[in-house]
Amino acid sequence: MAVYAHITGWGMSIPEKILTNHDISQIVDTNDEWIRTRTGIEQRRIASNTQTTASLATEAALKALRMANLHPSKVDLIIVSTSSPEHIFPATACIVQDQIGAVNAGAFDLSAACTGFIYALNMAAQAIRSGSLQNVLVIGSETLSRIVNWEDRNTCILFGDGAGAFVIQASERPGGILSAVMRSDGSGGELLTLPGGGSKYPTTRESITNGMHYIHMNGREVFRFATRVMAQATEEVMESSHLRKEEIDLIIPHQANYRIIESAARNLKLPLNKFMINLSKYGNTSTASIPVATCEAIQEGRLKEGDNVIFVGFGAGLTWGSLAVNWTGPFETKPEVHVWNYSNWARTRSFVRRLRRRIEGMIWGRNGDG
Ligand code: ACO
Repeated sequence: MAVYAHITGWGMSIPEKILTNHDISQIVDTNDEWIRTRTGIEQRRIASNTQTTASLATEAALKALRMANLHPSKVDLIIVSTSSPEHIFPATACIVQDQIGAVNAGAFDLSAACTGFIYALNMAAQAIRSGSLQNVLVIGSETLSRIVNWEDRNTCILFGDGAGAFVIQASERPGGILSAVMRSDGSGGELLTLPGGGSKYPTTRESITNGMHYIHMNGREVFRFATRVMAQATEEVMESSHLRKEEIDLIIPHQANYRIIESAARNLKLPLNKFMINLSKYGNTSTASIPVATCEAIQEGRLKEGDNVIFVGFGAGLTWGSLAVNWTGPFETKPEVHVWNYSNWARTRSFVRRLRRRIEGMIWGRNGDG
């Protein structure tokens, strides 16, 4: 019996603090009109001091699990796609695993910049279709405000913070994730990069003085690349999922720049109202942009059960990709799961485990031999 991978839960977490174009014009030499006409962005959200990539991811994940009516202990795998992880290691996904009490899940981060959510969804779908996993949590989460150079007007105007999560579940019912396209071109790696802090340029006083811990971007080249691949990837996934243009109900593109989406619509000969666009409110939230836009499309009634939707994105790497879905919604006939209560229990459990580790360390000593 064939197994299909369905998206059965979704959730988003957006910081409360709003930074408008006008606010940014007080920081760098720019203005609201320039940002709006060149990008379509009007404002973005900025994480508070207590919010991090993992905390936003955790909140989005809990909402998605509640929507899917899925107990965290039933999750087999957590994939967090991010370019602004909590640390180089451990993986942000492991922090989420601990926070939500996903006691039976594997967890890892995926780095494919703004295309990451599409890559991660495809990985989840493949694992489910192979029969090895039943329930996967896929999260896109970013606090780009922490890695942007607030003195560089070429980049700081573009990015925002946020997170979105999907629950992917196995079912014999046909539909769900139909097919995907994943592409990369590492020869363009230097066009969009955070060069410092890794093995090539470890953090030193000099690397910090040279601003290597910030995002560096050649905006014009990234723009040219994006306009080329968005339509191409959309057409490729329509072909691999055997969907005709008239059968597509909605396209949810990566929310980087209004002009890039306009150009994709023109190249595809599709009206702009086929595209979900919410970047004016959030800016470019990188790998969170597609799940956040999906949550809002559902809220606005633009995406319903049975609809055919295409996700398409591009980003650093260079990477790009697309994914076609026959939209499902939550599976029926399950008792309600109280994930919020459970997450409180998970925090207590985490505390007890840390405490136990400390006590054991004191009892057994350094060598574990007492
Ligand atoms: N305010 C005012 N003027 C500005 C600003 C600003 N914030 N930024 C640049 N300018 C100036 C430039 O200095 C330049 O002046 P010059 O002509 O005197 O040299 C002029 O405006 C035009 O600059 P361009 O770079 O040609 O502007 P462009 O129309 O290309 O828009 C932008 C720039 C918005 C960055 C655009 O290139 C873009 O959106 N590129 C794609 C970026 C992107 O999507 N990145 C994310 C990828 S996803 C991921 O992986 C994270």
